[in-house]
Amino acid sequence: MESINVMIEEHENVRRMLKVIRKYCYKVLLDEEIDYGDFYKIIDFIRNYTDGHHHAKEEDILFKAMGEKAPKLVDNGPITGMLIEHDMARLYVSNLEKAVEKYEEGDDEPRLDIIANAISYTDLLNRHIEKENTAIFKFANNMLPDDIKKEVDQKCNQLDLAAEDRGVQQKYLKLLSQLEEKVEE
Ligand SMILES: [Fe+2]
Ligand SMILES: [Fe+2]
Repeated sequence: MESINVMIEEHENVRRMLKVIRKYCYKVLLDEEIDYGDFYKIIDFIRNYTDGHHHAKEEDILFKAMGEKAPKLVDNGPITGMLIEHDMARLYVSNLEKAVEKYEEGDDEPRLDIIANAISYTDLLNRHIEKENTAIFKFANNMLPDDIKKEVDQKCNQLDLAAEDRGVQQKYLKLLSQLEEKVEE
């Protein structure tokens, strides 16, 4: 399915950001001088690309179609597991944001919460992506009838094009490259 191929590509971009986050956290651990404001850029990427664009397509289109075809996937099944992980990711990110704010107010201890929440997020998302790539997406391909696959592809494509019109992919892939370069300095 074309929509799934696009989502797998998006997973690669998300994984690149997870590596950036880990590198930033290592600098926090070593108490190196870094721009803590970059965490807001990372949070912006997570909220508007990973979650607002990618997870939204999964939740509102692909997983929804799978659940309609096989309700037991949703009733405590693997799709519910994926949705719970999206929610846990949101919680880690909101805790990360609070920790960065507290650090900027002059407290040192929130560095611990920055690392804890950011690394928990990367670990959760890495495992989540692995499950989607190796199981959930393959399962979707096997279980969905052709007409539904076509519908999912069309709806995802519409969302992708609308996001492109707003410059979403361009903005966040540029931000990703900038942070990759910056964290290597
Ligand atoms: Fe997901
Ligand atoms: Fe995903």
